[in-house]
Amino acid sequence: MKLIVLDSKHFDSKAAEIAYQHLKRKQEISLGFATGNTTIRFHKALAKKIEENKLDVSKINTFILDEYIGLPKNHPNSCYYRMNEQLFKSIHLQPKQIHFFNNVQANEDLHISCDQYEKSIESCGGIDIQFLGIGLNGHIGFNEPGTPFESTTHVINIDENSRLSKAYMFESFELVPTKAITMGIKSIMMAKQIFLLAKGNSKADIIKQALCGPITTDIPASILQLHPFLTVIIDTLAAEKIDKTE
Ligand code: GLP
Repeated sequence: MKLIVLDSKHFDSKAAEIAYQHLKRKQEISLGFATGNTTIRFHKALAKKIEENKLDVSKINTFILDEYIGLPKNHPNSCYYRMNEQLFKSIHLQPKQIHFFNNVQANEDLHISCDQYEKSIESCGGIDIQFLGIGLNGHIGFNEPGTPFESTTHVINIDENSRLSKAYMFESFELVPTKAITMGIKSIMMAKQIFLLAKGNSKADIIKQALCGPITTDIPASILQLHPFLTVIIDTLAAEKIDKTE
């Protein structure tokens, strides 16, 4: 594991610079993206770098990590909409370059969507770089505590605490969807390289538990300790607990 601690003020631009240096190495590359507060400015900074350097993105494939079930793709809180606004639109990706869970509804047979997602990742040669955030309970994607490490893309019930942490985005807690579809922990671990991003002191405890504690399904992100090419990019606030003891 490689740990990079950045000052909070320049977190997004520096993290984007690091990511950019990796993704410019290969033209045909598959990238996995996670939505969340943590990555908003990072995505925007990455878009800026790509534009400024006129990087050819025509052979890039992107995969959105997860999606709320029941939100249409043009809903401002859908992961697709957010990724499009934060990054994809600015770098002019073509629709065929964007893989996402399209208008998934609870009444559909979602096993088909899950299988198709795994197959499209495979047909693009696997994910080269997966960007991740981390939930306060250690979730990655929407893999909540207790999710088996062997899980592939699947449907989950969103943890009540996770729904509470997303309530600010919706008009009320009740409107936060109760289900999501997410790449599984195994699908994430199969990425060739993983970047885990976290910032702010609210993430300090979970970062310590995930990176320094036992590997357990109670903390889904703890499995990342076993990934051969994990880079953790966090700000000084999120690193607070590990700085004192490591
Ligand atoms: C979400 C997403 C994750 C994201 C995480 C952290 O619900 N499913 O992909 O990484 O929560 O979100 P935030 O960055 O807002 O703390």
